Amino acid sequence: MPARRLAGRITVPGDKSVSHRALILGGLSVGETRITGLLEAEDVFATLAAVQAFGATVERDGTDWVVHGTGIGSVLQPEGALHMSNAGTAARLLMGVAASHAMTTCFTGDASLSRRPMKRVIEPLSLMGASFAAAPGDTLPLIVTGASPAVPIEYRLPVASAQVKSAVLLAALNTPGITTVIEPVATRDHTERMLRAFGADVTVEEDAGERMVRLRGQAQLKPLPLEIPGDASSAAFFIVAALLVEGSEITIENVGMNPARTGLVTVLRQMGGRIRELNRREVGGEPVADLHVCHSPLTGIEVDPAIAPSMIDEFPVLFIAAALATGRTTTSGLAELRVKESDRLSAMAAALALAGARLKETADGLVIDGTGGDLLAGTGQGQEVATCLDHRIAMSMAVAGLVSRHGVAIDDVRPIATSFPRFAELLEGLR
Ligand code: S3P
Repeated sequence: MPARRLAGRITVPGDKSVSHRALILGGLSVGETRITGLLEAEDVFATLAAVQAFGATVERDGTDWVVHGTGIGSVLQPEGALHMSNAGTAARLLMGVAASHAMTTCFTGDASLSRRPMKRVIEPLSLMGASFAAAPGDTLPLIVTGASPAVPIEYRLPVASAQVKSAVLLAALNTPGITTVIEPVATRDHTERMLRAFGADVTVEEDAGERMVRLRGQAQLKPLPLEIPGDASSAAFFIVAALLVEGSEITIENVGMNPARTGLVTVLRQMGGRIRELNRREVGGEPVADLHVCHSPLTGIEVDPAIAPSMIDEFPVLFIAAALATGRTTTSGLAELRVKESDRLSAMAAALALAGARLKETADGLVIDGTGGDLLAGTGQGQEVATCLDHRIAMSMAVAGLVSRHGVAIDDVRPIATSFPRFAELLEGLR
């Protein structure tokens, strides 16, 4: 239902990408890793269970989580299959760990994850010596037999993917010699930052516009206390909501501002969004800030495809902003969105059209003609948008509901629990 105005201060939960990495690296170091601000959501719990199956102990202590790792090379053979649920990051990163240890690991996932391409990780990890048996189309369920010793490779990423980069770097931890990943297009660098914090021998160099990440394997990781910054991808829904709902003024505390994650803020500012960064500081080796966001009339723009990797998970909610802007917003170069938790181009095109937005789906983007600030109609009697097991479609369409006359009915809100169980509660608190 339409919201009058959003006001107040909120703190978003811990970053999902950083939370997965904290558990995995904690499990691969010897000794105690204390994690503050871990995201407590289904995707991260899939990683947590897998890290335990690999032999680490992971326990909650007050609001912290404490990992006692096995160390690189001493990872245990899991007794059963690792259930990854909806979590692509968990599946791909943990395949990297499994690929360079002498063991056989089976990965399973829900219907959404079982449709997603795994060839992108199978390919480099096979070059390192691992072997794979996967379902047709190189999908889950999948069994990986690790190589021991694995062989170091130099690998140029064919797709801009932090998950693939991280899978190779995690495999490289138990591989003798130097493994190199070359990124023609930079992606989120949480793995490199955290590896360095754990004392790994990792270097990053720019060469002719490419990023070369080198890691020397088989060194011990040294555990340390970790603090997880707030998730910029979760903050995104509130940023757009406050920009769109008239009279709104909110502050979102402790938001991760890693430059490889802040493309949405850049694009929304280009559209006229008033977003101020306050109290800039570092948390756990990552830049963070409090974001002050005020309702702003937005203007459609042509979004530069080069910015896509730094806002790859934020396009669904950007499309909502575009649907309310004045004029046309054009996006392109977004073929990767078709292989996320859902095909996010077709899922968002269908959902927005049902809610009354005017748009066209192209091969690699959406072209959206905004209402100029007028409310969307919302879904009609008996109609529901299909969220396709995708948390970000559900939350984006909840934001659309705030700026619609009749509200937006959503078929299934359960996927929200994969990344943001308290989403509805926080939104209610701002209304
Ligand atoms: C992630 C990388 C991105 C992103 C995902 C999280 C990560 O995926 O979409 O939600 O934590 O490394 P790709 O690597 O497939 O682009």
